[in-house]
Amino acid sequence: MAGTRTLTIIKPDAFGAGKTGQIIAHLEQAGFRIRAARVLHLTHAQAEAFYAVHRQRPFFAPLTTFMTSGPCMPMILERADAVSTLRTTIGATDPAEAAANTVRKLYAESKERNAIHASDSDENAEREAGFFFAEADRI
Ligand code: CMP
Repeated sequence: MAGTRTLTIIKPDAFGAGKTGQIIAHLEQAGFRIRAARVLHLTHAQAEAFYAVHRQRPFFAPLTTFMTSGPCMPMILERADAVSTLRTTIGATDPAEAAANTVRKLYAESKERNAIHASDSDENAEREAGFFFAEADRI
């Protein structure tokens, strides 16, 4: 059965541009409720660890440089069928390919600076939630 929690990150481009409130409103209107949230400026070591699965990809270095370029906002979100619903809500990785009225279509600049991250499976949602939040920080 699909899980009810997923992990999102409002990335440094959107956070720095003051789009956080609009993005959270969009997510809440899609039925998500925030169960944990924090603001932090990732170190290079943290960004490399979070995106370790992409270590061999050509975009790994620019990705980790971008993710450490300013503060970001990870959140644990909850609703039914959380992982797939959030991925539909945020749209395709490349905003040029994202559906109308998705977060990335509305707020992302490019495939690299794409405003928001979402876990791609229940297993990764749990791993990524554990990366940013202790059990005591979740409601
Ligand atoms: P995200 O959902 O955070 O997961 C991996 C990120 O790598 C992705 O969003 C993009 O921001 C970034 N990225 C940069 N270039 C590419 C690419 N060519 N293909 C996929 N992801 C890319």
